[in-house]
Amino acid sequence: MKIIIDTDPGIDDGLAIMLALACPEFDILGLTTIFGNVPVELATENALRLLDLAGRSDIPVSQGAAKSWETPYGGAKSAVHGEDGQGNLFSPTSAQKPLETTAAEFIVSQISKFPNEVTLIALGPLTNLADALKHDPEIQHKVKEVLFMGGNAFCAGNTNPVAEANILADPEAADFVLGHHWPMTMVGLDVTQKTYIPSKLIAELAAIPSAIGNQVFGAYRHYLKFYKEVNQMDGTWIHDSSVFTYLLNKELYRTSEYPILVETADCISRGKTWPSIKDYSFIAGQENPWLGRPKVNICDDVNGKKAVSLLKNRLMNATFPIEK
Ligand code: BDR
Ligand code: CA
Repeated sequence: MKIIIDTDPGIDDGLAIMLALACPEFDILGLTTIFGNVPVELATENALRLLDLAGRSDIPVSQGAAKSWETPYGGAKSAVHGEDGQGNLFSPTSAQKPLETTAAEFIVSQISKFPNEVTLIALGPLTNLADALKHDPEIQHKVKEVLFMGGNAFCAGNTNPVAEANILADPEAADFVLGHHWPMTMVGLDVTQKTYIPSKLIAELAAIPSAIGNQVFGAYRHYLKFYKEVNQMDGTWIHDSSVFTYLLNKELYRTSEYPILVETADCISRGKTWPSIKDYSFIAGQENPWLGRPKVNICDDVNGKKAVSLLKNRLMNATFPIEK
């Protein structure tokens, strides 16, 4: 499966990238980076470093948007991911450089080169996907599948009571992406917050020697501390990795299909992903703002224990370089 991973690493992005690298099913065409957990330049550095540590510097990295369509970048989420987005490990930078092409150009070029073969995966704000669609709307007919970690259909948000972080970071771009007729799956908080990885399992995975493991699980110390302080949890949810556990075994997930609108007004529900869960056309004369919008495949339930075992097994059986 040819995939592109659009990412803002980010501690849980790091785990997701490691998981993807551990799976022979995935042929990673490239990583594209986006502002979010950290400024985009740092996201690019982190992406390059993670690939380097995994011995996969052959995978190209393309830098994307530095801010959302409408608002300035709000700054790194250092309480969650550390100043460096990697749990304040401040590891040495990679000698590798990103491509000259932008993330949007890279996405367009790969989807055009391999029609109906590329699965596009977003683990951060949806700005690069929206920019790619603007650049060449034809990609919506040529992509195989689009999956994104983000949004909350039937549960509360994680940045405020109504919105999830990735969508709230650029609601206009998210609404634009969700308004296009391409095959989309939303892997949002409805399922990621039912997929719990205990700190004991993180420690088990951290004990397997590898350079990328040292980075990823070293960073998790910071993430676990945050979860303990804020959520009183002795572990964390796996947000970004859930896209890969879904792709690896779709049977672990229940899905439903509804058109989605993203709230873009400057109001308390800005960034909320609203699925149209019922047909109200029986009310004469009432406008339907969802009319003509494509249906999105929404992951709304998961066997979280099995999803975590899947992740565990894949990481336990992977071979990565021990030293950089
Ligand atoms: C999402 O927000 C980011 O902080 C994580 O990396 C994940 O993509 C979870 O809401
Ligand atoms: Ca992310």
